[in-house]
Amino acid sequence: MTTRTFPYGSAGIAAAAAVIADGGCVAVPTETVYGLAADATDSRAVAGIYAAKGRPSFNPLIVHVPDRVAAEALAVFDDHATRLADACWPGPLTLVLPLREHTGIASLVTAGLPTIALRVPAHDAMQALLAACGKPLAAPSANASGSISPTRAGHVLRSLDGRIPLVIDGGPTARGLESTIIACVGGAVRQLRPGPIAREDVAGLLGVPVGGAGAGIEAPGQLASHYAPGKPLRLNATGWRAGEWRIGFGAVTGDATLSASGDLSEAAAALFDALHRADRSDARSIAVAPVPEDGLGAAINDRLRRAAV
Ligand code: TXA
Ligand code: MG
Repeated sequence: MTTRTFPYGSAGIAAAAAVIADGGCVAVPTETVYGLAADATDSRAVAGIYAAKGRPSFNPLIVHVPDRVAAEALAVFDDHATRLADACWPGPLTLVLPLREHTGIASLVTAGLPTIALRVPAHDAMQALLAACGKPLAAPSANASGSISPTRAGHVLRSLDGRIPLVIDGGPTARGLESTIIACVGGAVRQLRPGPIAREDVAGLLGVPVGGAGAGIEAPGQLASHYAPGKPLRLNATGWRAGEWRIGFGAVTGDATLSASGDLSEAAAALFDALHRADRSDARSIAVAPVPEDGLGAAINDRLRRAAV
């Protein structure tokens, strides 16, 4: 298969919508990372996502919809979910909610769970694709399973060139980290994955404590090695060793520096590109300077710890 790359624009969106209508999947930018999108109501198309990624089939996928009305047709919103959707959509928040019956969503998308993960993305390209397709789109990150999440079209091609028909190139993504996942099920609010929207902000918005992920398979996408580059990675490096590719932060300058000014948003947006560059380099191993744990730092450190396994 030859992978065609289109710049984001009407021709690219029309070509991508045609691939999706035909049961295929395409890579498209969102404000978080590039997604690999297919029609969430077509089980063969969804199987094609898993096949292209080489992804374990027990991993449920996030379904992208244009707005809250479309989301409410698929899932049951309690008061907490309604407040979060009002405050954060469109944007980098995924809500895990009870799935309604007879939605037409392929059971492969939810991996047979009674819940569904929903997101209203903010990026124009993903919104244009949703409008052109008129279907909810299942879209995990557009990388082969186990490799680093893509924040540029070139990252997508690194692991999926020749395995998918089409990539929309919308430049680097603004956020650089996958969405925060919050489950609102049975009256409780729990964070299943840290991300651009901090847990303390969710708790502040709702005025209730936000629990962590329980044991079991609720967020199986959080396999320990999910973001791993192909070489050893040393965390909290306060000095550099010979042969390391150096990822700096703040005053600690490296081969790449996530943010010289210590800005955590800038660091998040730069993180996966730095890991891709480190992985591609000749260095035998990677070292990363300490990143503070507050706010977005929690999500950055979560990704770094997984990359270090
Ligand atoms: O930013 C993002 O969320 C990106 C962009 C493309 O939108 N998408 C993304 O999707 O990161 P993916 O498939 O790589 O991550 C899906 C995550 C996994 O951790 C999965 O386990 C969890 O969502 N998930 C999906 N459905 C779930 C459900 N019903 N219950 C619990 N977790 C669920
Ligand atoms: Mg992923």
